[in-house]
Amino acid sequence: MDPAPLPRSEAAGPAPFGRRPCEVSENRASGGYRVFSLLDREGPEPAPGQFYMLATERHWSERGERPFLPRAISVAETGPAAAGVRLDFLVEGVGPGTDRLCELATGDRVWVTGPLGNAFSEPRQVRPGAAGAILVGGGIGVAPLALLRRRFGERNVPVRVLLGFRDQTHSGGLDDLFGCCEVRLASEDGHAGHRGYVTDLLAAMLAGDDAGSAVVYSCGPPAMLEAVRSLCAGREVACQLALESPMACGFGACFGCAVPKPDGGYMRLCIDGPVVRGDQVAEVPHA
Ligand SMILES: Cc1cc2nc3c(=O)[nH]c(=O)nc-3n(C[C@H](O)[C@H](O)[C@H](O)COP(=O)(O)OP(=O)(O)OC[C@H]3O[C@@H](n4cnc5c(N)ncnc54)[C@H](O)[C@@H]3O)c2cc1C
Ligand code: FES
Repeated sequence: MDPAPLPRSEAAGPAPFGRRPCEVSENRASGGYRVFSLLDREGPEPAPGQFYMLATERHWSERGERPFLPRAISVAETGPAAAGVRLDFLVEGVGPGTDRLCELATGDRVWVTGPLGNAFSEPRQVRPGAAGAILVGGGIGVAPLALLRRRFGERNVPVRVLLGFRDQTHSGGLDDLFGCCEVRLASEDGHAGHRGYVTDLLAAMLAGDDAGSAVVYSCGPPAMLEAVRSLCAGREVACQLALESPMACGFGACFGCAVPKPDGGYMRLCIDGPVVRGDQVAEVPHA
């Protein structure tokens, strides 16, 4: 049976049906990425690992480009708002959708559907006897780990955080989302922390005596996730991975996000994920 996901909050209900407009309260640079905040008056508080389908109210399908669907973006943090909840997102402009989100100004509005998908679970729910958590994030994939770290902290779950970035341009969220905690860093160009991959740090940590008492939680590029999955499998350490797949609807209707299961068949990442246990995939698909 799948482990129980972290609850959103005591008062959390289901996501409102349909999309709703939410106002942008802030948009600031963060390393090579942007952090923007939306005021969600209607929605319940999300759980770490969940995502929203987002589309800007203005200019989403203009400029002579193809009209396109909302984009899946993980919630990175939440905070109090005068009404409802403040949702923070970490975004990297890699195409027309994320470029529009990067350009948002205070007062603009965004069409929001969510929170969608499942969430990360507590270590003891993933593996009986596991007490601690090792969070491994890469690039824009550090986003959902920020909310996860805070929620674990509130529940007195011991957490170690390992983050990796390709270079300074492909980095962000450190001060904004992880400023309050100790983080071990890796960068491929050596601009911060260990020169190399974040999985080098994980391999060294898993070689330690107490590795079996922790569960690894990871989000990042597919090749990194596959390295994490393989390292954990080799050491019999349980892990949960937040996967990505192209998403058109976000709620199970289009099968655009289907990924193969090891024992045959497919799962829809938008409703069966995005968080999966390492043993739920034979391999994380990567180029
Ligand atoms: C559950 C989930 C959570 C996400 N969270 C975040 C987030 O917090 N911040 C963030 O910046 N992005 C996030 N993404 C990724 C983002 O939704 C996609 O990159 C999106 O397609 C970007 O739209 P675009 O129009 O800017 O670029 P597009 O034109 O759609 O794509 C730009 C490039 O990315 C490639 N690409 C697009 N989607 C995917 C994918 N799912 N997997 C691999 N390659 C892809 C394309 O082939 C192309 O090379 C998330 C995706 C998912 C599924
Ligand atoms: S995105 Fe449509 S079924 Fe998953």
